Amino acid sequence: MALVPAAGRGVRLGESKPKAFVPVGGRPMLTLAIDGLIASGVVDHIVIAAPAELIDEARFLLGHRVEPACPVPVSVVAGGAERTDSVRAGIAAAPRATHFLVHDAARALTPPSMIARVVAELKSGCPAVVPGLPVADTIKSVDADGDVTGTPDRAVLRAIQTPQGFDAQLLRDAYAAGMHATDDAGLVEAFGAHVRVIPGDPLAFKITTPLDLRLACTLLTVRDTPESADETVPAQDVAAPVDIPAASHLPAPAKPSAGPHNDSASYVRSSSNVPASSKAPSASDVPPTTDFSASTNTVTR
Ligand code: C5P
Repeated sequence: MALVPAAGRGVRLGESKPKAFVPVGGRPMLTLAIDGLIASGVVDHIVIAAPAELIDEARFLLGHRVEPACPVPVSVVAGGAERTDSVRAGIAAAPRATHFLVHDAARALTPPSMIARVVAELKSGCPAVVPGLPVADTIKSVDADGDVTGTPDRAVLRAIQTPQGFDAQLLRDAYAAGMHATDDAGLVEAFGAHVRVIPGDPLAFKITTPLDLRLACTLLTVRDTPESADETVPAQDVAAPVDIPAASHLPAPAKPSAGPHNDSASYVRSSSNVPASSKAPSASDVPPTTDFSASTNTVTR
């Protein structure tokens, strides 16, 4: 199950419409991102969180992807004021999902092969998996006056991308706990869960600024030219997998055992400060139905 937050306004991009609806090489970012998820072959259902006033447009754009011939049903719900509100709406629309991939529509050129790698790691037993790249710049922390307060060791830093993969019950529990973070993995880290970083891909960059948009248009032209080579950077060239430490106030975790994690007790580092969770349903509990004509805030699974 993939959740696609696509309800951002994209102020930094400076376009007249919300970012996910801005075309890249003639195709809206949203459809590019959805087509990447479908092409990965590892997603069985997609829920998009779109701006409330653009739900019909999103359905129109994605219409042919929900024909019976399409193996991956697509639903659209109303997003919220913050990205977390949009993801929360998507989570609510998929009560029987066993795993979630949360993927920004703004990462429109994400290679399907990277999406498949995230899911493979998730299915090997990791409760939370995120792609990340080494950072090229030195990163400094600063105070409100602009004075430097620290320089973290760049070698241990990763720039984190999407899709981020989660045991579904873990993500539900992290959202229910009402904590704040700038990405979904940050929420589950704060919740005390083990998060694994696998190599990301430069093509999964988030289209944020006009320069990003120009770069994406150029890359898409190259990608869609028949004789062009696969531009994906080999995984071994970008980063080795690393594990993100839990929040420092939490006790050391047990490594997750192999096999699917449907029981929240298996991914939480400490059970003393988090709510108990019920066992997630299995994949067989998810009915393979779609109702793309469903009303604004509803999906069929
Ligand atoms: O704004 P930013 O680029 O960080 O947004 C990342 C993703 O989250 C985008 O795909 C955007 O559409 C989505 N988003 C959302 N709801 C919001 C804000 C952002 O779905 N309220």
